[in-house]
Amino acid sequence: MTYPISPGHDSVALAFGSSPSPFLKGRQIGACGGTNRRLHRILWDERDVTTPNLAVATFVTGSPVGAATPDEGVVEGESGIMSEVHAKHVAVLMGGWSAEREVSLVSGTNIAKALEQKGYRVTRVDVRRDLAALIRDLSPRPDVVFNALHGKGGEDGLIQGVLEYMGLPYTHSPAMPSALAMDKAMTKRLLATVGMPVAEGVIVTKEQVLAGHVLPPPYVVKPVDEGSSVGVRIVQQGDNYTVLAEDGWLYGARVMVETFIPGRELTVGVMGDRALAVTEIVPVKGFYDYDAKYAQGGSIHVCPAEIPDDVTAEAKRLALLAHETLGCTGVSRSDFRWDDSKPGASGLCFLETNTQPGFTPTSLLPEQAAAVGISYADLCAWIVEHARCHA
Ligand SMILES: Nc1ncnc2c1ncn2[C@@H]1O[C@H](COP(=O)(O)OP(=O)(O)O)[C@@H](O)[C@H]1O
Ligand SMILES: [Mg+2]
Repeated sequence: MTYPISPGHDSVALAFGSSPSPFLKGRQIGACGGTNRRLHRILWDERDVTTPNLAVATFVTGSPVGAATPDEGVVEGESGIMSEVHAKHVAVLMGGWSAEREVSLVSGTNIAKALEQKGYRVTRVDVRRDLAALIRDLSPRPDVVFNALHGKGGEDGLIQGVLEYMGLPYTHSPAMPSALAMDKAMTKRLLATVGMPVAEGVIVTKEQVLAGHVLPPPYVVKPVDEGSSVGVRIVQQGDNYTVLAEDGWLYGARVMVETFIPGRELTVGVMGDRALAVTEIVPVKGFYDYDAKYAQGGSIHVCPAEIPDDVTAEAKRLALLAHETLGCTGVSRSDFRWDDSKPGASGLCFLETNTQPGFTPTSLLPEQAAAVGISYADLCAWIVEHARCHA
């Protein structure tokens, strides 16, 4: 959103440091990055608002971007009249071309609706593998890009790199953590260095996994870089490993094989520097697969999980550790197994971090936010207000 302001100043994009609301509401102070990449502070006062669409603002320029703090101190600089007050313009990217396209469309549609309810101006962008079309869809330039994509292309650093290139602030994690978290092998290798408990495992070729047991069963075979349980198989004692050959293996040359961790399934959402809550996912039948995750009633979410307090605390600590170690920003969600036959929290085992967690109103992370009193719409607004361009 740009404002015509007094001569000698750049037009500025408004971002409220202290409020998730994109509208003027009485006395507020907004921090604005000008096109000259210097900070503008806008100070205004209710008393100066003569009509809902007119506000007198004082522009204070000169501080480096990032130094904005709410400050009602000395008013300096020039005063200008904002001719119009617009809502912040958010482009919601959804769809994409990964195996999770349909989920992303549901996430994105709900996010767009919620942001409109909060007063943002929203453009919906169905992302295809067409860069020229994406650039067209992102012009005129939105103030923020809400990345509601999941899986390959949208969660692995690719779209993040494009948005960095375009200089657009976007939500969720930057390119590097996105790429890292998408690769389960790299993630485990990195997180093991900070003491994260991870399942024993090996990375083998597709040929090796099809040729015979590479670990004593039971074990789990999963793609290194898919999501939503796509391609995940569990090989039980007595199973023939050729179960994998039945429909071939379509998920790339590198295959992750992990010891099967018995017990329960936990997931922990992180919002900034806070782990929200622990959810236990109880599959209605057996293994928690794609259908169980997304079919109505396919699984039961117990939030907060009915587990001992020390396990809850440790799962939250580990989710935050993963978020911070990987360099995630905004929200993320980490998946764990918990072998409850082991004492205390010692049976916790990290599986993966999702940098673009599912985002329908009944998805795990929004549900956890709701459990701690943050509505879906407020969560969406928080994410928008924490969007960044990192390059
Ligand atoms: N080592 C393991 N032991 C037991 N179950 C596992 C293991 N790895 C994966 N699973 C099961 O497969 C599901 C998907 O695996 P995960 O690593 O979270 O990948 P993704 O969700 O990206 O497909 C998990 O939620 C869990 O139910
Ligand atoms: Mg998972």
